[in-house]
Amino acid sequence: MDPEKTELVFQSYGRCCQREAFFVDFYDRFMGSSEVIREQFVKTDMAAQRHLLRNGIMQLILYARGMPDRKLRDLGKSHSRHGYDIHPEWYGLWLDALVATVAQHDPEASPALEQAWREVLTPGINLIRDAY
Ligand code: HEM
Repeated sequence: MDPEKTELVFQSYGRCCQREAFFVDFYDRFMGSSEVIREQFVKTDMAAQRHLLRNGIMQLILYARGMPDRKLRDLGKSHSRHGYDIHPEWYGLWLDALVATVAQHDPEASPALEQAWREVLTPGINLIRDAY
């Protein structure tokens, strides 16, 4: 993965994490994308979930920067048919919601930066999705 791209995304994520509403807005958008997505979180403590996702996105970025895949493999297990049963086709909605939330919150957002986010996160997302 192009280190300049992962660096751009890493910096962008830093700006997003400074925004109080980033994770609230992400889950509002993601759950709003489909009734079936909302149903996955009916019993979830969303405050805790937002906190866990903060680290999860970091793991996706670190994986693109060459870090070992162990933590993503764990997420692959927990999200698989033996765990939360997260269907592979839902990951596209997840990435669309995330990129839209970045565009909303990062003051330096641009179409090129949104594209970089997609490229940088896709290998890690595919790893989790393909463990289904
Ligand atoms: C839990 C990250 C995609 C639904 C979690 C956790 C993390 C996480 C860090 C908590 C740790 C764990 O339980 O293993 C991610 C990342 C994703 C992703 C990085 C993108 C690749 C999705 C998608 C859905 C989803 C597409 C579909 C609705 C859930 C659910 C939980 C969960 C239902 C458990 C909530 C609970 O404990 O009640 N996710 N997730 N995730 N995720 Fe994901």
